[in-house]
Amino acid sequence: MSISAGAAVIPLERTDAWSAVLSHARATGSDSLNALFAADETRAQSLCATACGLTLDFSKQRIDARTLELLLAVAEARDLKTWRTRLMAGEAINHTEGRAVMHVALRAPRGLPMFADGKRIDGDVHDVLDRMAAFSERVRDWSWRGARGDTITDVVNIGIGGSDLGPRMVCEALTAIAGKGPRAHFVANVDGAQLAAVLESVDPARTLFVVTSKTFTTQETMANANAARRWLVDALGAPAVAKHFVAVSTNLDAVTAFGIEPTNAFGFWDWVGGRYSVWSAVGLSAMLRVGPAMFRELLAGAHAMDRHFVEAPFAQNLPVLLGLLAVWNQSALGCSTQVIAPYAQRLVFFADWLQQLEMESNGKYVMRDGTPVTRSTPALWGDVGTNSQHAFFQMLHQGPEVHPVDFILPVKADHALPEQQRLLIANALAQAAALMRGKTADEVRAELVAKGMKGEALEQAIPHRVFPGNRPSNLILLPRLDAFHLGALMAMYEQRTFVLSVLWGINAYDQWGVELGKQLATRLLQPDAKHDPGLDGSTRSHL
Ligand code: F6P
Repeated sequence: MSISAGAAVIPLERTDAWSAVLSHARATGSDSLNALFAADETRAQSLCATACGLTLDFSKQRIDARTLELLLAVAEARDLKTWRTRLMAGEAINHTEGRAVMHVALRAPRGLPMFADGKRIDGDVHDVLDRMAAFSERVRDWSWRGARGDTITDVVNIGIGGSDLGPRMVCEALTAIAGKGPRAHFVANVDGAQLAAVLESVDPARTLFVVTSKTFTTQETMANANAARRWLVDALGAPAVAKHFVAVSTNLDAVTAFGIEPTNAFGFWDWVGGRYSVWSAVGLSAMLRVGPAMFRELLAGAHAMDRHFVEAPFAQNLPVLLGLLAVWNQSALGCSTQVIAPYAQRLVFFADWLQQLEMESNGKYVMRDGTPVTRSTPALWGDVGTNSQHAFFQMLHQGPEVHPVDFILPVKADHALPEQQRLLIANALAQAAALMRGKTADEVRAELVAKGMKGEALEQAIPHRVFPGNRPSNLILLPRLDAFHLGALMAMYEQRTFVLSVLWGINAYDQWGVELGKQLATRLLQPDAKHDPGLDGSTRSHL
């Protein structure tokens, strides 16, 4: 069946398939998770799926077997299979920009034919990967020398958004197991405090700047790259730029105009969205830090997840299940946000990466055909456990609104502190269990009476100590936080975002919503902006 990307879309919530889900939700909505577990202890096994070494336990979602059946029927009714085929075939499903969406090609193994808009692309992908690997090896084995003959000890990635969050997150996640390599620094913010702090900590003669920008026009990145170049030229002279600056971009003309030699530029293509670009040359800073072999493991894990997404039946398909459960929580249960809680310090930037991925993709007020969405995708936020338990978990347990949580937990640690790992695991499982179980007024009363409390003091204390419970979560287990499983985890969430876009009827791959602020910032920088009658009085008064 062929579907035009901009053809009329029926909002999900007006479809028969979704009406059936909502009727079921109304009939079963008051069922508690505690009762569902009491009635069926095996739900932990039946509401569970595995792929690529990852396990998704979704038994703590407020669903039963019938809900799942109805949700799977929604996926069929929304033509998810057809859209998946179109995505993987390299059709121009980003119709507002007339582009294919082929980040999956970046992690496909050598020789596997991949296409974008009918053109074969896998050869180009592997040529760039090979060049990145050769360059990384030269830096890492110290044969690449700076302008004064020094080895490179520090790599500074200058980029923002997808040109920062992906490589930064991957570096942070894998550095601990990567062995020796240059130190990696990331500068994204146009606030000079970030670049200034990095420049103070590095030696120009031993520093390599990787200017990473798909467009090579992004204001923040170009301002930081220009400032870094001035700093380097002041220290080492203009010819040193050739040995201390490389670029990653789709805009190779702009790279040359900046003064970086074409031989020091690593290209990618317009069918790679910024927030999906870490698998491309945008991953160069990560590859320089962790080495080409580990970077290829990351790609292999992501490719394994792509295959699972394409081949597994929907009922066992991790991205499909995650997407359906997200829509269920949003539309049937009214949850307006989704929390990501990785129980792994090395995933401290995971929620940052994921929030751009999901919210820049599906944060849209119109569907593919330009008509309004009935509901927005849940805002996504989070931080690592156990830190977040002492920050925002109070609200997750006792706030008036329900915020479903994805607990992400690598089971085996890569450090020699087994007691810490035991505590970490116990805390992750305890939080998920507590959100689900809650604590009743009777339980609180019994606890306080046992401590000797009574009378008015007892009655006043009870409501503050009650936990409503029945709060849903997913548990996502990784055997270990290595490159392969990290790649699989990332690709799982990328494909979840795609599934959500299909269910809601959104084009996930443009991002027009970032343009207006950019235009206005440019206008505010004009010399006469203070007197610009097109600007409001408040804005003008602060110029
Ligand atoms: O925030 C808008 C955006 O275009 C993102 O999609 C992108 O990741 C980021 O800016 C950086 O863009 P570029 O890589 O072109 O500098």
